[in-house]
Amino acid sequence: MLHLATQSTSVVFDVRWGVPFIVYWGGHIDDAEAQRLVNDVSQRPRAGVIDRPALATIVPMHGDGWLGHPGLLGRHRGGSDWAPRFQTTHVECQRGIDGASSATVTATDAHAELCLVTNIELSAIGLFSVTVELRNDSQMKYLLDELSVTLPLPASATHLTTFHGRWCGEFQTQSIEWPIGAWIAENRTGRTSHEQPPFVLAHESNMGAHDGQCWAAHLAWSGNHVIRAERQVYNRRYLQVGELLNPGEVCLEPGDVYVTPAVMAVYSSSGLQHVARTFQAHARSVVGNLSARPVTLNTWEAMYFDHSPSKVLELADVAASVGVERFVLDDGWFNGRRDDSAGLGDWYVDTNVYPDGLGPIAQAVTEKGMQFGLWFEPEMVNPDSDVYRKHPEWVLERTGYDHVLGRRQLVLDLTRTDAYTYVLSRLDTLLSELPIAYVKWDMNRPHIAAADESGTAATHRQTMALYALLDDVRRLHPNVEIESCSSGGGRMDFEVLRRVERFWTSDTNDPVRRQVIQHHASLFFPPEVLGCHIGAPVAHTTNRESSLSMRCATAFFAHMGIEWNIVGATTTERADVAHVVAEHKALRHVLHHGEVLLTDSMRDTGAARLVHGVVSEDKRTTVLSFAQLDEYSADTTVRLFGLDANLIYTARRIIVASDDPTIENENEWLRSLSQSGKSWATDGAKFPTLPIESTVLVVLEGS
Ligand code: DGJ
Repeated sequence: MLHLATQSTSVVFDVRWGVPFIVYWGGHIDDAEAQRLVNDVSQRPRAGVIDRPALATIVPMHGDGWLGHPGLLGRHRGGSDWAPRFQTTHVECQRGIDGASSATVTATDAHAELCLVTNIELSAIGLFSVTVELRNDSQMKYLLDELSVTLPLPASATHLTTFHGRWCGEFQTQSIEWPIGAWIAENRTGRTSHEQPPFVLAHESNMGAHDGQCWAAHLAWSGNHVIRAERQVYNRRYLQVGELLNPGEVCLEPGDVYVTPAVMAVYSSSGLQHVARTFQAHARSVVGNLSARPVTLNTWEAMYFDHSPSKVLELADVAASVGVERFVLDDGWFNGRRDDSAGLGDWYVDTNVYPDGLGPIAQAVTEKGMQFGLWFEPEMVNPDSDVYRKHPEWVLERTGYDHVLGRRQLVLDLTRTDAYTYVLSRLDTLLSELPIAYVKWDMNRPHIAAADESGTAATHRQTMALYALLDDVRRLHPNVEIESCSSGGGRMDFEVLRRVERFWTSDTNDPVRRQVIQHHASLFFPPEVLGCHIGAPVAHTTNRESSLSMRCATAFFAHMGIEWNIVGATTTERADVAHVVAEHKALRHVLHHGEVLLTDSMRDTGAARLVHGVVSEDKRTTVLSFAQLDEYSADTTVRLFGLDANLIYTARRIIVASDDPTIENENEWLRSLSQSGKSWATDGAKFPTLPIESTVLVVLEGS
């Protein structure tokens, strides 16, 4: 038996079956109970006529009688070992002083000449993570089709909440009763994806923000993946998560090892807030101690490709005057880039547009007290670029076929040393020559039949090359921050987060859309890594017109910025923006270090009302947002968990802009919010009557 435990979580493994089998994953139990559960394993029901228990081990094997989807698929070239069976050979367990514990279980199949090592870890905060390594011990090549991690779940996990999305519509959810058969999401885009981000929740039917058991899983990987949630006819269920490999993509030479991306999982006995708390705490441990998140202005929607030094300088002037601290020059600054048809890959400043280079711009920006940031899309080339004309062989596609273009571009083959070295040296040169504090790292085209020079499927190696490139840039320029952008939020996962400080959460700056996207993204990521900008009055992506107040209140909680040509804004609008930026700065120590507070408002109102907040570490300050997204007039009670039960909180409103909505009987409503932490959790408070598509922010101070 292996029993990894924190105060709130236990994961118990039976290691007698080759690959470890998760006997139990739930709330804390003692060792005696864990041992009893392990003793019972051999009594578990058989599957049909198979005379041994059908166990969903972490890598369940068809050869052992497992009739669900196997965790390992592959074979030696010409070999008959496509259904291996492993024996445990070594078990090691470590307990860290900080309360974390980990174990490594080694298993071998002498016949197939394969070795499988399972690494498991339960962090002190309850994040359970697993990776599996497969080593080819034979003298023959091993063709790997799949190695995934399987997490069996109890029958009480009757429901699934899954995540899907699209450009400008990231992090949508659907909740379903777990059907017999399998729910499957396959991501073949070569990036984490908008369509199927690698997150899944299995839960009890009553799960909400604070109630019900939930088992959440994430694959920390920025390439292709597959998520399976199968409920078998014997009423057993499991989640299976792993990298999706194209045919021939991974071939292990003798002695080679394939390591799965980490599967990260969280158990909560009390709904989503604990899931969010754990993932967010982990994210914070990954990104480290971030400085106060600088309020950012990004030029994309302010000028698109219409660059000129005078326009940029004028915008920088106004940006500085409203309190912006980081000015980011987006797409359009490099050779030939007058629209999206040309230039990608030619990372040289276009002197037709910037005759004196970017030096004077960067200097002016820094002299105004702002950091200077620059946009790149290092993994791409346009066919209409000097680099492609010189090296048409540098692209990740099969030769002999016509290009399949996406946004009129192709993927640069970073698995080639020459292409990799070229991009790294261009980035390095620019980051050395200019005072660049920030890189917006974009990626706008999915992988289509991504093949290296030999024609072999290469998304796996391209993803590893991307990580290496990010690592190299960080090594050479340790003080430069990086944002992961992929047509908005197409690359948001915990592996890329080890190399970046921020996600561009979505290309939509429509605040109504953004409220929902950010709400679901914050089940996993803390507000300070989610970029959110105040957009133009009419959103460029949806044409929706929104009040300045709604736009400001939406950007308030996240890593705040502006994506709007404020040169053309009215004096009142500029004053309002300056005001909200100042309010944000005064509260960002709470917003970006506190604990996110979730409520059931979306569920209870059919997504018409959304209440969320953040409470400071010392529980004395809470910032709350009440957003009316759609029509809904019935009374809505909002309860908050996570405040200090013994403190009495006094509510005050934060006015974000001059067009803030008026609240009927505002003082009475604010008085009703002024109550103890205990009564916030038991009685809660009423949602005010608000106009559609408006938001009100409130601060609660406890004493
Ligand atoms: C897609 C990004 O998501 C946008 O923010 C912007 O940077 C454009 N690319 C530029 O081409």
